[in-house]
Amino acid sequence: MRIIIASHNQNKIKEFKELLEHEVVGLSDINYHQEIIEDGESYIENATIKVKALVELFPNDVIIGDDSGFSIKALQHKPGLYSARYMSHLNDYERNLAVIELLKDNEDRKAFFTCAMVLYYQQEYFVTQEVVYGTLPNEVLGNEGFGYDPIFIPNGSNETFAQNPQVKQQISHRAKAIRKIIDHVHYLQD
Ligand code: IMP
Repeated sequence: MRIIIASHNQNKIKEFKELLEHEVVGLSDINYHQEIIEDGESYIENATIKVKALVELFPNDVIIGDDSGFSIKALQHKPGLYSARYMSHLNDYERNLAVIELLKDNEDRKAFFTCAMVLYYQQEYFVTQEVVYGTLPNEVLGNEGFGYDPIFIPNGSNETFAQNPQVKQQISHRAKAIRKIIDHVHYLQD
């Protein structure tokens, strides 16, 4: 059973490979180089759009699409659905610095990551959405991971996801969603 991850993001594909015991390939591995336009109004819609772009091309594979984002309470849950495009003139490090600077006097440090995941196999869609709650540090901390990892401390930890990728692998929004998806893959196989 081959699993296609509808993403070009190598960091994400690595996270999937670490957690799934099956053959896992990303879009570049199957020579799919088109950009999939994510214009849905929710994470689940966007994850579904990514999967639907592939179902006719790869009817015999399991296809998984995910869409995720980072929500900051003090910014009315921005960047949220627009996380990839937020302050897009800056690189990840500069953007994280800018967010910490923007909120330096704000006592509300609450934030969360969301991950919607859609699995397609043999005309069936399985959908799940998971979150992980935490807080913003006062500075950008750690070099591992990607995106907003250096400015997110999950509840119960005192390090950012970028300082402690082992914790991220256990409890992240994506790890939780993948676990649900794995249950479904096991169901499909048995
Ligand atoms: P995507 O549309 O699911 O690829 O995610 C949108 C954006 O959310 C990414 O470009 C990242 O900036 C951010 N993001 C999603 N997941 C994570 C994560 O696990 N860590 C840090 N940032 C993330």
